[in-house]
Amino acid sequence: MTLKSTVLATGIGLWFTTIPSGAAEPIQPLTPPSDVNSAQVELGKKLYFDPRLSKSGFISCNSCHNLSMGGTDNLPTSVGHHWQQGPINSPTVLNSGLSVAQFWDGRAADLKEQAAGPIANPREMAMDHTAAVATLNGIPGYVAEFKTVFNQTPITLDQVTQAIAEFEKTLVTPNSRFDQWLAGNETALTAEERAGYDLFKSVGCVACHNGPAVGGSSFQKVGVIAPYQTTNPAEGRIAVTGKDADRLVFKVPTLRNIALTYPYFHDGAVQSLNDAVNIMAHIQLNRTLTADENAKVVAFLNTLTGDQPNFALPQLPPSVANTPKPEPFAAVDTPAAAH
Ligand code: HEC
Ligand code: HEC
Repeated sequence: MTLKSTVLATGIGLWFTTIPSGAAEPIQPLTPPSDVNSAQVELGKKLYFDPRLSKSGFISCNSCHNLSMGGTDNLPTSVGHHWQQGPINSPTVLNSGLSVAQFWDGRAADLKEQAAGPIANPREMAMDHTAAVATLNGIPGYVAEFKTVFNQTPITLDQVTQAIAEFEKTLVTPNSRFDQWLAGNETALTAEERAGYDLFKSVGCVACHNGPAVGGSSFQKVGVIAPYQTTNPAEGRIAVTGKDADRLVFKVPTLRNIALTYPYFHDGAVQSLNDAVNIMAHIQLNRTLTADENAKVVAFLNTLTGDQPNFALPQLPPSVANTPKPEPFAAVDTPAAAH
């Protein structure tokens, strides 16, 4: 390691040196990212909160991934342009960069590829990419800031998604009570929470929910033992691979901040964490948990809430007279499509 990389890695290094036993556990602590481009992060933060990336001028990324509400909208499925009902539950953006891929079916490889989707999706922000980029190019404050950050004009979609993704990389939630326990603080968890973690491991939840994000590391079938009862038509990863074996295979969701990201499952049909845990035990592991076991597992899951994003609200550069105008009440011309 060169001197430079040692210095750069110090943040992470310090974190790891405080973990005596954590490395042996199937769940590892979350570490804040150490290699972000801070100018891109600040720009991406603005874009994340900017509703002018939507046709209506009303919907931002934060509308459906509200950073004051665990990075979700807490709705079964989202409300999109023209009050359209979304097809699937909005997953949290918190710690999303840790996942193997993005979306329930993993159809975007990473955050950057993902970010282009919702802007143009007619059921979400309904703003075609040309119009979105033209709007930003019509806002002098953005033109100046993009030029500073990317050393290039005009603004391109690639720069927009790059900046948003860089901001999202920072949405990591370290320092949960569970992480404090992993770091060696024995009193960070109660006996009940500890027992819940032991059950989470012994019952078999960790086979799928593991790693720093307690999920997000693999695609798995929902309903290994018994079918998941739903009226939602989503078929999962078969939509990406075309393989019949991938029917009802979804990306395993992160359980970080799970107390905040209700309602649960891809159809958002389950409101309580207790119910979600019982369903999982039954349909994935052929286990019926006692009320006491269920309470313990839920107590453990509640310790996974970490430090939430904490920053000053970004001030967005104002539109000017010739900035393209939003169309808040425009009907959608295109029928529903996946993003
Ligand atoms: C109208 C609601 C809505 C808006 C607006 C929206 N999203 Fe989403 N987002 C969703 C839904 C629903 C999904 C899941 C779609 C799927 O998996 O098929 C999703 C998925 C994601 C994911 C993947 C998370 C994971 O675990 O797979 C990320 C990241 C994300 N959105 C970021 C963004 C960003 C960045 C923006 C703004 C450019 C945005 N979203 C705008 C509803 C929305
Ligand atoms: C075989 C893999 C597997 C096992 C074992 C498993 N899960 Fe899951 N879990 C998944 C998948 C896949 C989903 C997403 C299912 C969906 O939404 O249709 C999920 C979803 C969840 C959710 C909802 C997350 C959200 O954000 O909507 C919770 C809570 C959960 N699991 C807890 C558990 C618990 C507790 C156990 C052990 C009792 C467990 N899981 C065992 C694969 C698994």
